[in-house]
Amino acid sequence: MNWATVPELDGPPILAIESSCDETAAAVVTGTRQIRSSVVHSQVAMHARFGGVVPELASRSHIMAIDPVVRAALEQASIGVDDLSAIVVTSGPGLAGALLVGIEYAKGLGLASDLPVVGVNHLRGHLLAAHAEVDEGFSPLEWPFVGLVVSGGHTSLVHCTAPDEIAALGRTLDDAAGEAFDKVAKLLGLEYPGGARIDRLADSGRRDALAMPRPMLRHAGLDFSFSGLKTWVAQHIEKHGVPEAEALADLCASFREAVCDTLITRALRACRQTGTRRLVITGGVASNSRLRSMALERSAAAGVRVSVPPRWLCTDNAAMIGICGYAEAISRVGHGFVGGDLDASPSWPPSMKIAPTRSVHVR
Ligand code: KG4
Ligand code: ZN
Repeated sequence: MNWATVPELDGPPILAIESSCDETAAAVVTGTRQIRSSVVHSQVAMHARFGGVVPELASRSHIMAIDPVVRAALEQASIGVDDLSAIVVTSGPGLAGALLVGIEYAKGLGLASDLPVVGVNHLRGHLLAAHAEVDEGFSPLEWPFVGLVVSGGHTSLVHCTAPDEIAALGRTLDDAAGEAFDKVAKLLGLEYPGGARIDRLADSGRRDALAMPRPMLRHAGLDFSFSGLKTWVAQHIEKHGVPEAEALADLCASFREAVCDTLITRALRACRQTGTRRLVITGGVASNSRLRSMALERSAAAGVRVSVPPRWLCTDNAAMIGICGYAEAISRVGHGFVGGDLDASPSWPPSMKIAPTRSVHVR
């Protein structure tokens, strides 16, 4: 797909839908860099009392929320369904039932309105969020770059040589970084999802208060492992009890430092190994304040240009899905409804080169 021939700005509007986990989201995008509206309905409060996402509840909640969320996105962009040229929807990876709600809604709307429907890889969406033109005056992506996607479900290092050419470099062998934040938060008695809460508490703590391990850093290669770090915290709590006040802030700061150090060290190693001087960091954990500041400091020192989207584009949203799928969607305009066979691909890795409009099961 040649992105150069597709409008970056002021192109035909497309609708983007995201429902892969616990956010129901819709957006209107009018170019590979232009977001006209973005609406996110979070289910976090509903899942909080269970300490994690309950797949069945997530699917049900998506069913309830999807139509109002899509209507709100169209309204915010001041357009109607008749103005749309195409629909893109996350088709994987994610929870099968949750993905299907978005996919079936997109297909229903596509069939009724004679629009093409295109499936988008959620992790590619996270990466290409960094291409969007946003208030902060973000510059466009330049290829090749190393991408670090860090979220509740994924911790992946990839090498992107073109918008649709992504090669896997490394991934977590156990917990994702966000999952590690959430599990440690649970050990500390903090509400799910605890990543942002640990981040806030850490701001008043000392980063070097506790000598936490840096998992896998002595190993060559680009994989991650965070479960040992979580076990370290569990054993510390077993010995000393759940910390409070200053000791809690110190533990949060030391833990945050260990995770961020591990992520940035690996990401810069990937840049060195691939000879790439551009790094994109995205996904929910990329909204971590220490990860953002450490990325800037250490990338500058290593001669690498780092790009981290604003927080609202790092956590799950449909605007990133629209940016990612725009070129593919535009190439299908004029053929009426296509994509009727699109199916959920719960474990679709970002590096798989597969035509999004074909139904693919990768297990
Ligand atoms: O990308 P995202 O919204 O959803 C997934 O695709 O997983 O990421 C959610 C994850 C959660 O684990 C949450 O705790 C974590 O991102 N997170 C953070 C912060 N904000 C969200 N982790 C660390 N620091 C933060 N400020
Ligand atoms: Zn995500």
